[in-house]
Amino acid sequence: MDVSGSVAIVTGGGRGIGRGIVLALARNGAHVVVADLNPNDAEAAAREASAAQSRSMPVRVDVTVQGSVDGMVADVLAQFGRVDVLVNNAGVIAAPGWEERDSPSEEDWDLIYEVNVKGMARVTEAVSPNMKERRRGKIVNIASIAGRLGTLTSGPYGASKAGVINLTQYWALELAPYDINVNAVCPGLLWTPIWERIALRYGRDKEKYPGLTTRQVFERTVRERIPLGREQTPEDIGNAVAFLASDAARNITGQALNVSGGSHMN
Ligand SMILES: NC(=O)c1ccc[n+]([C@@H]2O[C@H](COP(=O)([O-])OP(=O)(O)OC[C@H]3O[C@@H](n4cnc5c(N)ncnc54)[C@H](O)[C@@H]3O)[C@@H](O)[C@H]2O)c1
Repeated sequence: MDVSGSVAIVTGGGRGIGRGIVLALARNGAHVVVADLNPNDAEAAAREASAAQSRSMPVRVDVTVQGSVDGMVADVLAQFGRVDVLVNNAGVIAAPGWEERDSPSEEDWDLIYEVNVKGMARVTEAVSPNMKERRRGKIVNIASIAGRLGTLTSGPYGASKAGVINLTQYWALELAPYDINVNAVCPGLLWTPIWERIALRYGRDKEKYPGLTTRQVFERTVRERIPLGREQTPEDIGNAVAFLASDAARNITGQALNVSGGSHMN
């Protein structure tokens, strides 16, 4: 998983899975730009990555705003002169208040698509010209097992992640002539703020989850759905991303890799 000397951007890199990806890339020698909506988280993760001898840099970005994305890419090019790896990880499960709603609202649909689908497209379109010019690049999109098979958790979220898998195939074809690989990773169940919100929502079913904490709801779901019987971690996802970002994966493109303890086998 040698990515030494590569310049990588990780969106949503400040916490959760994104932070795990930042640290895995840094451990394997990349210089990582931690691009996040939350500047404090971005700074903390960049500091941790720098401890792994990588030249890392925090940038505040809102992937729903074109000007913010363009500014971020300009800053990175001014600092490093190139982008070798892009990890589109920023994502949301829903708008505020979803935990208490019976069905998704217009705000849920809009935010999910703005961040998970259009946000990913904005960043990819802003970064890929530099990769095309240099005929070199690796793009890894964070999808989800929710994009593999519909579940009752959230229709809009699952549809957005199925969209991520399809967009990955589209970009893989479009960018193949420039020797740019585009793949997706589908994480399984990870205990991050996203899953805490899912557990809050599941927990409304007091018959199925009587008196359970959100963490207990999560653990029960892991037992029910994951053949290997354990939760996935940000480090697991980071390792898969580091592999796909390395030249060891030079002949892999347009794929979606489940990192989910065997829950999905397609
Ligand atoms: N946690 C899981 O079990 C799980 C499973 C499958 C897929 N995923 C996916 O993994 C990715 C990371 O999720 P997580 O679980 O670490 O969640 P998280 O909420 O901990 O992290 C999401 C990160 O994205 C950032 N972000 C949100 N909106 C943004 C925006 N508009 N611009 C820039 N950054 C923004 C947040 O600030 C945060 O740092 C998401 O795409 C999510 O859909 C998570």
